[in-house]
Amino acid sequence: MNTDSDFEIFMVATPGLESVLCAEAQARGFTNPTPVKGGVTVAGGWPEVWRANLEMRGATRILARVASFRAFHLAQLDKRARRVPWADFLRADVPVRVEVSCKGSRIYHAGAAAQRIQRAIAEELGAPIIREAPEAGEPGVSIKARIDDDLCTISVDSSGESLHKRNHKEAVHKAPMRETLASLFLRHCGYDGREPVPVVDPMCGSGTFPIEAAEIAAGLKPGRSRSFAFEQLAGFDPAVWQGLRAAGTVTEPAVRFYGSDRDAGAIAMSRANAERAGVSVWTDFRQHSVSDLVAPEGPPGLVIVNPPYGARLGTDRKALVPLYHALGQTLKQGFAGWRVAVITNEPSLAQATELPFGEGGVSVSNGGLRVTLHLTGALG
Ligand SMILES: C[S@@+](CC[C@H](N)C(=O)[O-])C[C@H]1O[C@@H](n2cnc3c(N)ncnc32)[C@H](O)[C@@H]1O
Repeated sequence: MNTDSDFEIFMVATPGLESVLCAEAQARGFTNPTPVKGGVTVAGGWPEVWRANLEMRGATRILARVASFRAFHLAQLDKRARRVPWADFLRADVPVRVEVSCKGSRIYHAGAAAQRIQRAIAEELGAPIIREAPEAGEPGVSIKARIDDDLCTISVDSSGESLHKRNHKEAVHKAPMRETLASLFLRHCGYDGREPVPVVDPMCGSGTFPIEAAEIAAGLKPGRSRSFAFEQLAGFDPAVWQGLRAAGTVTEPAVRFYGSDRDAGAIAMSRANAERAGVSVWTDFRQHSVSDLVAPEGPPGLVIVNPPYGARLGTDRKALVPLYHALGQTLKQGFAGWRVAVITNEPSLAQATELPFGEGGVSVSNGGLRVTLHLTGALG
């Protein structure tokens, strides 16, 4: 339902997975989810912003778009920025950081534009301004202004630290997958926790895929253990927030979630991470090489894996061909009825698995690296 006090909420997506994030927003009952470049817009008020931070697994951060106006030159920006009702959402005692980007606009100097907005906030509201780059755990909130085609859109970053930080993972292995991206890949493969589908990751590193899949199946909220920038905004209502956190029930998943890795340290980390996330009873982590992998008892499910990437771990791509080949052989021989998703940056490595990948792949940009998820149907 749209009300007069609703505004646009922008959910930031991993580029390439906007439509998957949109499907998640739809499934979680947000109003008018629309995929746009770089994210998904929905309509709502502050409680929906809080709920998005708490419940959205795939979003990188949640921005509340609180004002927009035309600004053709800096004096106009200065004047109009002063008219933004800053006190409606910012507190005079909480430091504010301002980040500006300009594109295709007469105002092209982001630094000068930021200085005008900072001054407007400092003089109209009296909040202290932070000028340095943000540091983890530092108090304060960020205002993001985008000046695009002479239209200045002002957003509040309601999340603070990136939402992939669920606050359960202290230990990370080499090249961990971000939880947000892992959840979008799982959803892209049709895994949304509604069907009892076991999930296996035979090169699990710090355990991201099995832990994320177990949380989804149990109905745990991804933001349950962390704090958010919106807790420092004006109008934050701790009672409503506690109500949102307490809503819903956790259900015991009907299947289990499996991770293995040849590295003992990776398995120790996965177990510790699962413990902190509260899913250790539903997950099973074992140390062995991919060639020793056997399918777990029970119904077939989804194998999802990101083996070492050529470039990222500094390994020669050719040297990885036997590993990808062994993965494919093991799965073809022992995983009839299972679907397989292999995520890699190099098409020739995916080919080396000799798995029957179909049309359902997707490519994304992950930390400057282009990676593709290759997906099979049920193996014969
Ligand atoms: C890119 S990392 C996976 C990261 C993981 N998805 C995460 O979120 O932390 C690749 C993993 O493959 C493991 N690995 C490499 N060769 C292996 C093999 N032959 N058998 C099993 N695991 C292997 C490495 O130890 C490493 O943890």
